[in-house]
Amino acid sequence: MVKDKRDIYYRKAKEEGWRARSAYKLLQVDEEFDIFTGVTRAVDLCAAPGSWSQVLQRKLYYPAQERIKNGASDAEPIIVAVDLQEMAPLEGVIEIQGDITSTKTSDEIINYFHGEKANLVVCDGAPDVTGMHDIDEYIQQQLILAALNITTHVLQEGGTFVAKIFRGRNVSLLFSQLSVFFEEVYCTKPISSRSSSIESFVVCKNFRLPTNYQPTMIQPLIKQSDQLEGHNRLVVPFLASGDLSGFDE
Ligand SMILES: C[S@@+](CC[C@H](N)C(=O)[O-])C[C@H]1O[C@@H](n2cnc3c(N)ncnc32)[C@H](O)[C@@H]1O
Repeated sequence: MVKDKRDIYYRKAKEEGWRARSAYKLLQVDEEFDIFTGVTRAVDLCAAPGSWSQVLQRKLYYPAQERIKNGASDAEPIIVAVDLQEMAPLEGVIEIQGDITSTKTSDEIINYFHGEKANLVVCDGAPDVTGMHDIDEYIQQQLILAALNITTHVLQEGGTFVAKIFRGRNVSLLFSQLSVFFEEVYCTKPISSRSSSIESFVVCKNFRLPTNYQPTMIQPLIKQSDQLEGHNRLVVPFLASGDLSGFDE
């Protein structure tokens, strides 16, 4: 995508030292949904170049360092970032260069948590765009399913999952599938997200695995199918994120 240098969030990101303007999307999601409180283990899926990892660093790692310095606590948060591409290092962030669809990656993440699981998983994944709308939407949906799949391995009960989605024709199927795993599912469009883009974000709270469900990385979680009808069609609350008096992209 061509970067619009007149874009307010692009300029703000440069000034404030964020690696990408996307940082504001996660910050605004947090303003609306309070996703960081109590989080000590977080995973950033599809993290490069790293602005969401920077948000995790500033919200979790630096405050913890401050508490440690003041003798108030000795708990270090663990932040793991995964991407196919290499990412420049960030203090307090463990980086894995890997594919979120592979079992090896989920095992590696859990190893870094010393056998425990994450309280928060975020995913801003985007495949290479072809420009063909339906294909892009389909591939994006497959990527979010991969993110949800790996999340069923690495997220602890009660945890939160935030992910980018494209609000296209099949989105209600995705909402229904997410609601199998999370008690609360919301869809939000941060004000920094370009209004011309069909991108939105799901915020899913209170993770719980269905009884007898065995997470597996081998089978796809769900298959693309026809539109859901009747009571299977789930409409989730849709909200704007971010201070509405702030800059509108
Ligand atoms: C929009 S960028 C993420 C931006 C990032 N959140 C930030 O704020 O800097 C999307 C990323 O998804 C990654 N990606 C796409 N498919 C992936 C996969 N299967 N496994 C891991 N990363 C993937 C790409 O390499 C790309 O870096």
